[in-house]
Amino acid sequence: MKKLLLASTLLSLLFTSCTKDPNAMQSIFDQYAKSDRKDHHSFSNPHEALTTSLHLDLEVNFEAKTLTGSALYQITCSPQAKRMILDVRDLNIEKVLVGKKLVTHVIGESDEFLGSPLSFEVSPNSKSIEIFYSTSPEAVALQWLTPQQTADKKHPFLFSQGQAVLTRSWIPCQDSPGIRIPYTADIQVPKELLAIMSAKNPFTKNETGKYSFEMKQAIPPYLIAIAVGDLAFEGIGDQCGVYAEPSVLKAAAYEFGDTEKMLKAAEELYGPYLWDRYDIIVLPPSFPFGGMENPRLTFATPTIIAGDRSLTALIAHELAHSWSGNLVTNATWDDFWLNEGFTVYFERRIMEALYGKEYAEMLALLGYQDLEADVQHIGHHHADTHLKLNLKGRDADDGMTDIAYEKGAYFLMSLENIVGRQKFDAFLKEYFELHKFKTLTTEEFISYLKTELLEKNNVVANFEEWIYGPGIPKNCPIPQSTKFREIDEWIAANIDTKMNSLPANENWNTHQWLHFIRHLPKDLSPNKMKNLEEAYAFSQSGNSEILAAWFELSINNGYYQNFTNEIEAFLVKVGRRKFLTPIYKALVEAGDIDLARSIYAQARPNYHSVASQTIDALLDFEQL
Ligand code: BES
Ligand code: ZN
Repeated sequence: MKKLLLASTLLSLLFTSCTKDPNAMQSIFDQYAKSDRKDHHSFSNPHEALTTSLHLDLEVNFEAKTLTGSALYQITCSPQAKRMILDVRDLNIEKVLVGKKLVTHVIGESDEFLGSPLSFEVSPNSKSIEIFYSTSPEAVALQWLTPQQTADKKHPFLFSQGQAVLTRSWIPCQDSPGIRIPYTADIQVPKELLAIMSAKNPFTKNETGKYSFEMKQAIPPYLIAIAVGDLAFEGIGDQCGVYAEPSVLKAAAYEFGDTEKMLKAAEELYGPYLWDRYDIIVLPPSFPFGGMENPRLTFATPTIIAGDRSLTALIAHELAHSWSGNLVTNATWDDFWLNEGFTVYFERRIMEALYGKEYAEMLALLGYQDLEADVQHIGHHHADTHLKLNLKGRDADDGMTDIAYEKGAYFLMSLENIVGRQKFDAFLKEYFELHKFKTLTTEEFISYLKTELLEKNNVVANFEEWIYGPGIPKNCPIPQSTKFREIDEWIAANIDTKMNSLPANENWNTHQWLHFIRHLPKDLSPNKMKNLEEAYAFSQSGNSEILAAWFELSINNGYYQNFTNEIEAFLVKVGRRKFLTPIYKALVEAGDIDLARSIYAQARPNYHSVASQTIDALLDFEQL
């Protein structure tokens, strides 16, 4: 514990003042050399030479699909430092300067998941490096959209997705979540477009198309982000606002109208919001995720704009990352549950504060269903169902399962159960305060948990079983929901009928509908499916979650021939991987891989590489 605190204090000292004390510096380098801090997903050598701040100077070229310019870093080197290694992927490196001196650089062999090491000589006294480069049109972090792929169809659009290990494809960097740097940037874009970043942002376009940014707080490289497009801004509170294409702005501002209340509720729970503003950008539908917690500026899919604010738990989630993830960051991707499990727990506490216990319980139960399905899919005894992962030699993305999210959240719920909410909240608040702007390994969390929660309150917990054991431990606190029980009962009572005496459901919310669709049997007769579709027109729903759940069920039930057009339109428009994977998978399992491939051939140009990589594998696409 003491050791941990010492190391953390030293690290934060470095980030704030760049200490000159050689002993203190040595401890910092030693920290990075420690085995549980060794990041298998980065080639960088922070234990020898460490980046401490970044200035980016880039020009965005939509014709060439490139960013061109330079990355200037301040660095600190250990007394033994001989060379520095950065992560790069498909970058065109023009030259590298150490201080003002041009040095020879070498780009090592490329790894399919990690890109390549870029190395060059430094000395213990080196203070800065500057890399002149341009990105490749294939940069995996970047998606270049044609005007046709945007909502307003007038201007092109660019956005980046850094997590987990993609930032290296647009910025040469020490691309490990264990490294933190503040950054500034000068970005030149075409005059008719606005650029915004995970930093202090402009609200309007200017005449020159040149924008300057500053992110004062030290953040890991996976949180450096950019979006460029025909963007407009609308405030939705003193501290919050929305950026979107003009035609989307009004709907977005309405949908996210409760954001500031969420922010206040979050602060009330776990302490002050330390990033100043909290804004949201609504991206074009090809954005591969629901949301991404880029600091000060959450990136969000337009598929959560349902018109009734029913899918905004996602905003609570990304906002919660401003504490869990962005303030206190997983040291490596093996510790990913520290980011996501804490965030799901926190997200549900925010939702409970705003909309009540019953609402939050529905969210938690849907999450539990996802967890059960994932454990089933991965295998109850498989090591990938441990919270602490071992992703060495694998894609860091493989950790993005409901284990990190839901098993992580349920683990925290089990701890809350043991000590009671009041003590657990005090513990979490202190956890964020003590570790802010730091990175944490699972083992460091455990040692903190032991002293500050368990020993202090004289209780025991089966944390080893949750963290290093498979499946779902027995003390998993599954909530009860009367709202969902009614639905289960209705289905049980009506399953043998024609399903045409339908439930009284005028007041069901989206989550109840989802529970309903998820719990319909996979072998309903075409007639029963028809009755349901006629009564509720699920295939025409304006709610993307309901639409996706219904498409999956109908494909599983062999009842989709009537709406292949709707399925196709959805898959071509939306690039959110969470929706794509189950639908394509269902088509494959239904024996209709031909349909899946023909839709995919049309849809693929619209997907971000993160999504197309997954679907390529699912459909064996390269073999076509
Ligand atoms: N940080 C994640 C997205 C992510 C994780 C991107 C790992 C790349 C690698 C983000 O906070 C997230 O979890 N998004 C979820 C939504 C959430 C409500 C569960 C998503 O996109 O579906
Ligand atoms: Zn998340």
